[in-house]
Amino acid sequence: MNELKHIAIIMDGNGRWAKQQGFLKRIVGHEEGAKRVRELTIHASNRGLKYLTLYAFSTENWKRPEAEISFLMKLMDRYLKNELSLFLDNNVRFETIGDLSKLPDSLQERIAYTKEKTAHFDGLTQVLAVNYGAKDEIIRAVNKAIALGESVNEDSFDALLDTKAIDPVDILIRTGGDKRLSNYLLWQAAYSELFFTDTLWPDFTTEKFDDIIKEFESIERRFGGVK
Ligand code: IPE
Ligand code: IPE
Ligand code: MG
Repeated sequence: MNELKHIAIIMDGNGRWAKQQGFLKRIVGHEEGAKRVRELTIHASNRGLKYLTLYAFSTENWKRPEAEISFLMKLMDRYLKNELSLFLDNNVRFETIGDLSKLPDSLQERIAYTKEKTAHFDGLTQVLAVNYGAKDEIIRAVNKAIALGESVNEDSFDALLDTKAIDPVDILIRTGGDKRLSNYLLWQAAYSELFFTDTLWPDFTTEKFDDIIKEFESIERRFGGVK
């Protein structure tokens, strides 16, 4: 059976879910989506998963209306405030990837505080991708290498990425029906198994998550070799 350490998710379809339910505001979908994050974190932790990396806000999402951006920033802040007890109770370490420097100061502080309080946990690591873009991450890593005056190899370059100590992505899931990566984990997903589902993120259940894992277990991963 395939070893499974890391699942990454593009949590897409919140806005469409809200519309489908008859809500006038897209943000209702984000609110509902945050509940799925909570459930899935507990579930993944109980399953013994090592890393769950969740795309919360991309470097391209700044193109959205200001009101939606501001709601998402507040939602992340509130989410982290409410979920601290969940992290503490479930041995979950909290991490982020992405350029945090462009986030509101209060959110940056909340993120730093949550990381500090959970740093010693060794169960699941929930990695939130916030103001994350794979191209931005790679460019920042290249500039770090230049500043160090060193050429890189695959291992040393890995260590310059935001995901430095995190294992490669085994399963990459995108909800919401579109089959694209939207600038997510382009390096880390080099050998990921890709799963695209039409289910909108607020409808994504732990059962659907388990079904994907079951399918993953039966895949022959060859990594370029032969079996
Ligand atoms: C994903 O849902 C959440 C974020 C990008 C923050 P969307 O807001 O993209 O929802 P759709 O894709 O428009 O339905
Ligand atoms: C990807 O969803 C980003 C997140 C889920 C945070 P988008 O809705 O931003 O992606 P596109 O615009 O459909 O590619
Ligand atoms: Mg979307």
